[in-house]
Amino acid sequence: MIVAIDGPAGAGKSSIARLAAKQLKYEFLDTGALYRAVTLAAIRAQIDFSDVGRLVELAENAKIDWDGEHVFLNGDNVSVEIRTPTVTDAIRYLADQPKVRSRLSEQQRRIAEGRNIVTEGRDQGCEVFPEAECKIFLTASPEERAQRRYEQLKSEGRHIPVHEILIAQNKRDLEDRMRPVGRLRAAEDAVILNTDGMSPQDVLETVVKIARERI
Ligand code: C5P
Repeated sequence: MIVAIDGPAGAGKSSIARLAAKQLKYEFLDTGALYRAVTLAAIRAQIDFSDVGRLVELAENAKIDWDGEHVFLNGDNVSVEIRTPTVTDAIRYLADQPKVRSRLSEQQRRIAEGRNIVTEGRDQGCEVFPEAECKIFLTASPEERAQRRYEQLKSEGRHIPVHEILIAQNKRDLEDRMRPVGRLRAAEDAVILNTDGMSPQDVLETVVKIARERI
């Protein structure tokens, strides 16, 4: 059984998908972590981002593993390092490449094989798991997503003005929506859940309810 959750940056997909997986007793897959890990591999190898051939070669050879919670690059747990702005800003160079996407999509399908899984990303319902039993497109207004991110960073002691977060987020949304392959979009058979004004607990309960009705 596959529960595929897609949506824009900052919609809370990761935390909701992780908690929903726990409640459903399913495994969890964060596909953004795989894109982040391959980007980190390119940064570490100092590959010129305009050299598509080398990026694809790297994506084919990098050893990326997922244990249900952490991501590993060539055996190193890189779950913290993949969250730096340096990685976030460079992801598009890899995520825009159809060959990189097909390599990571194959890996995602292998991870899910024979398992019950809650997976989250941008292209899960449309491209990677078009046969998923349950598809949810989790979204919220740009302002609300930026405000949530602001609160999260503040709780970590980092004060970044909301308008700066909003600008970076709009740029990422645009890149994710415009990509020729694997672009961010809701599958035709996805339930669209706009979480504006909902508490994380409400979102979680709604997602679990939608999933239970379909799996
Ligand atoms: O979900 P997260 O914000 O960690 O994803 C980081 C980036 O990885 C996204 O902005 C997107 O460019 C890329 N991504 C993707 N396809 C996925 C998951 C993530 O292209 N399935």
